[in-house]
Amino acid sequence: RHAGLQPYFEAHELLKKFYHHLLVNTKDGQEALEYLLARGFTRESIDTFQIGYALDSWDFVTEFLQKRGFKAEEMEKAGLIIKREKDGTYFDRFRNRIMFPLFDQNGKAIAFSGRALGKEDVKYLNSPETPIFNKGKILYNFHLAKPVIRRQHHAILFEGFADAIAAYRAGVENGIATMGTSLTQDHISLIRRNAQSVTICYDSDNAGIEAAFRAAGMLAEAGIEIRVALMPDGLDPDDYIRKYGPEKFRNDILGASLTLMSFKFHYYRRGKNLQNEGDRLSYIEKIVSEISGLEKAVEKDHYLRQLAAEFSLSLEALKQQMAADAPKKG
Ligand code: UTP
Ligand code: MN
Ligand code: MN
Ligand code: MN
Ligand code: MN
Repeated sequence: RHAGLQPYFEAHELLKKFYHHLLVNTKDGQEALEYLLARGFTRESIDTFQIGYALDSWDFVTEFLQKRGFKAEEMEKAGLIIKREKDGTYFDRFRNRIMFPLFDQNGKAIAFSGRALGKEDVKYLNSPETPIFNKGKILYNFHLAKPVIRRQHHAILFEGFADAIAAYRAGVENGIATMGTSLTQDHISLIRRNAQSVTICYDSDNAGIEAAFRAAGMLAEAGIEIRVALMPDGLDPDDYIRKYGPEKFRNDILGASLTLMSFKFHYYRRGKNLQNEGDRLSYIEKIVSEISGLEKAVEKDHYLRQLAAEFSLSLEALKQQMAADAPKKG
């Protein structure tokens, strides 16, 4: 690693420890701590994930770093402080936020995501891209989950890191999360080097289901076996675990995850009224086209029969439809 990057790592390590201290030991951090505990974070998970609190101050970190000999220009590039246009002075990027350190594969803190305590405009404020942090290359909790993923050949992919933390508390230790970005090819190769299969467990709201559909396509394309876990009522995994508990999450959600094709059945059905003839036909067409993309003849047959049974169609008609479809795809 480039020696010039050392101050970047050191500043993150120092601040990570200091933020954590403020959260767990000081009066200033009390409201933030109470917020976390009320949300179901345990003391243990607060320690494991080194969660902290950034003071409600414009210059605390700026001075803290300067006093310890860090160069302001470098700390600005590290995303920790911001330069004022008008007079060239600096101020703290993260103020009055719950601080989640983001770690690299070796468990070194390389960035932060700060959550607002209340309903602020920006719920999570993230470090920008820096010489040591590239969002598209980092998966939250990968450093802790990696040995478990390798042992099980399996990973659970979440949309938010609060979900990965909640899952960890629920005994699911192979959970990783993207951080507000869609899945990148770098994420995918990281996953593929360590797992054969992935359960996608994104939020079950519209945005989450759309993102799950895209992620599923990309992961399947890379040869990773996919399952998709869905939760009721638009909940996210963290919400679900709080409402129904760890056991039900493991058994009824992860344990009942759908195959990729069953998820697609569900996906194309959303917002459609299958009693309506037009909706029904366009749904059937979508599914037939998905089935025709399957590699295994046995799978094709299985899903065609399922579709035929559900809509009282003849298998023959569906096969003809599939054959008529094929040339269009080239
Ligand atoms: P969500 O909005 O689903 O957040 O965004 P969440 O994980 O459920 O968070 P809580 O439970 O409200 O605290 C999913 C992910 O998108 C990114 C974060 O990484 C978050 O984990 N995100 C979201 C941002 O970066 N900024 C935002 O303002 C919101
Ligand atoms: Mn601690
Ligand atoms: Mn979401
Ligand atoms: Mn969410
Ligand atoms: Mn949430």
